[in-house]
Amino acid sequence: MNAVATFADIAPVAEHGWSLDAWSSQGLARVEQALDRWVTAEVPMGLDHGAPAQLVAAMRYAVLDGGKRLRPLLVLAAHEAVCAHAGEANRDAALRAACAVELIHAYSLVHDDMPCMDNDVLRRGKPTVHVQFGEASALLAGDALQALAFELLTPQDGTVAPATQARLCALLARAAGSAGMAGGQAIDLASVGRPLTESQLREMHQLKTGALLQASVMMGAHCAQPGIQVAQALQSYGSAIGLAFQVVDDILDVTADSTTLGKTAGKDAENNKPTYVSLMGLQASRAYAQNLLRQALGALDGSGMVHTQALRALADMVVNRVS
Ligand code: IPE
Ligand code: IPE
Ligand code: MG
Ligand code: MG
Ligand code: MG
Repeated sequence: MNAVATFADIAPVAEHGWSLDAWSSQGLARVEQALDRWVTAEVPMGLDHGAPAQLVAAMRYAVLDGGKRLRPLLVLAAHEAVCAHAGEANRDAALRAACAVELIHAYSLVHDDMPCMDNDVLRRGKPTVHVQFGEASALLAGDALQALAFELLTPQDGTVAPATQARLCALLARAAGSAGMAGGQAIDLASVGRPLTESQLREMHQLKTGALLQASVMMGAHCAQPGIQVAQALQSYGSAIGLAFQVVDDILDVTADSTTLGKTAGKDAENNKPTYVSLMGLQASRAYAQNLLRQALGALDGSGMVHTQALRALADMVVNRVS
């Protein structure tokens, strides 16, 4: 078993009979089952070696049995909130979007941990992928996970309308690429040992982490075709929690231990990374994260949506989590 607590393990929110614990355990079960099914070998038959099977083993190691699954839960929560508002379904598309975004996230972690980036040996309570399988396999596993994400979004069986497929691919591609996660990671690497201003740090965090979290929200929403007011509110909500998530990640790197985190604590200072803690200290970073939580909840207040419990509870979890 993995040392990282899931949201279901650490979610005490219970409001008017609704609980994040109960809600998320249903969603998590669907996501885990789907990931297990989709991250599977389709190894070309007749090949006289086991290399592709080894690659799939590295992919499964990176994705399955670990992680909080925040991004898939955000997809499902946003989808449900918009469905309840606008009456659209498309549950298949939402599940595919939930898994696709987790695959991109898992790939980003595999590459983030490699010696050429953060050089980490522990992830989700296990040795990192390059430690377990070697650097070349880790590189390829990341590449293949990224490709698989887009394959999941483009089923050829008619279950997801072509326009929805195109929209989901566009949202995910933008969030993962040079204007999103990869771009933010490039800034992160270029900023080692350099103090950044608050606005530079904010931009880095919004790109490297915020973009994918915001895309999770928007992908879930777009499976149910939101109106403009709802889409704008969710955009603001996603932006606030996306930034808050990385601010809290910076805080936990300093305050939590490696067993609780499932990854090496204290890595940011060791690698001389600019973080919110190094810029403004712990207390101000915590206050900033709480402020972002208020912004996220405020965006939902003005959205006109009624069924926002899951989105609210997830925002609370992003900011008040311990791992
Ligand atoms: C860690 O993300 C990497 C960042 C973007 C800060 P998570 O904290 O969501 O990692 P898992 O998925 O739970 O392992
Ligand atoms: C990583 O940020 C963001 C990604 C795109 C993976 P960090 O380098 O702070 O993530 P951790 O702390 O290693 O999980
Ligand atoms: Mg990093
Ligand atoms: Mg890292
Ligand atoms: Mg970190």
